[in-house]
Amino acid sequence: MKTYSIALIPGDGIGQDVTQSAWSVLQRAARKHNFGLDETTFPWSCAYYKQTGAMMPEDGIETLRAFDAIYLGAVGWPAEVPDSVSLHGLLLPIRKAFVQYANIRPHRLLPGVTGPLRAKGFDILCIRENTEGEYSGAGGRVHTNSQDEVAVETAIFTRKGVERIIRFGFEQARARRAKLASVTKSNAQKYSMVFWDEVTRDVAREYPDVEVSHYHIDAMAARMVMAPESLDVVVASNLFGDILTDLGAAIQGGLGFAASANINPDRTAPSMFEPVHGSAPDIAHLGIANPIAAIWSGAMMLEHLGQPEAAKDVMNAIEACTSKGVGTVPGKDRTDAITEAVLAGIV
Ligand code: NAD
Ligand code: IPM
Ligand code: MN
Repeated sequence: MKTYSIALIPGDGIGQDVTQSAWSVLQRAARKHNFGLDETTFPWSCAYYKQTGAMMPEDGIETLRAFDAIYLGAVGWPAEVPDSVSLHGLLLPIRKAFVQYANIRPHRLLPGVTGPLRAKGFDILCIRENTEGEYSGAGGRVHTNSQDEVAVETAIFTRKGVERIIRFGFEQARARRAKLASVTKSNAQKYSMVFWDEVTRDVAREYPDVEVSHYHIDAMAARMVMAPESLDVVVASNLFGDILTDLGAAIQGGLGFAASANINPDRTAPSMFEPVHGSAPDIAHLGIANPIAAIWSGAMMLEHLGQPEAAKDVMNAIEACTSKGVGTVPGKDRTDAITEAVLAGIV
């Protein structure tokens, strides 16, 4: 029997609840489809930081490298550990070290879910650059705690980095409705964003079958609300993609529905699967987090591992659950009840 080794990092807050839920669903799908999911759980989190002074051990990245995939709940407990410490100590280094340069985030309404928009028939695939740009981590502070203090944080865009994410976006578009929208802010940022536009035009020549549009991030934010059905694949930089995908989550009914895959397309290192949402300290440990985003992210993991039938089964079970009205309204159903309803769909 084929068995995949998965590193589970439940993390903080609701990350723990939704990971448990997703894992039970994935295990059921694996049993049905006759493959194994062998998990090793790592307690790396803000609690771990409080105990050890680090979010993960020094050899954490090397430990993770041995796995077929990483499944993560959420990281962050800002009341105890600054986000700038916790996220730079765990989530962001994993994305970079394993060259998970394509962050894939689907936004569509599940059956039975009424989003906040009048528009219903949208199906957007956001492709977010995930290793550089505004998240490069290049910068510093000088003259700290004085009136002369200066803070600099430089966005870094490389030809290699931009080209590969744009090309990835075109490949996705080709497999869907052949429309790609590139998002920049080249009217205001005349170096990096003009560069991104140029690279997009260059790569576009290889994909004459894909219709390309260019939007500024502000106009794209409005379009995602006013005319989301006009969009197919949306490609954006790290920060722009981050913001647009919480907006995408909102139009699909809430953060409890937004799934995410951090993909290393060359498969030179493990990819990581996690919901778009964070640790939600406001509802942590109340048992009311919606696990659907996490379960959907798990389906993306099964697809990536080469188990498309199992992935499809998980998606069908999610849709059967929401079709019955379970998990469709934030706060109405408990995490356990939603998990049970999804599990019931995998028979
Ligand atoms: P958040 O996504 O955790 O929460 C935003 C709002 O959405 C909250 O009101 C929350 O209750 C709600 N929400 C989120 N997920 C939900 C779910 N599954 N079901 C129901 N409601 C849900 O964002 P935040 O409050 O800005 O961040 C909290 C912490 O998480 C911070 O430390 C932040 O840095 C971190 N964070 C981590 C990740 C990650 O690990 N991938 C992502 C985003 C934020
Ligand atoms: C996300 C999150 C992270 C990001 C944070 C927690 C660093 O918001 O995955 O969307 O900005 O990438
Ligand atoms: Mn985000």
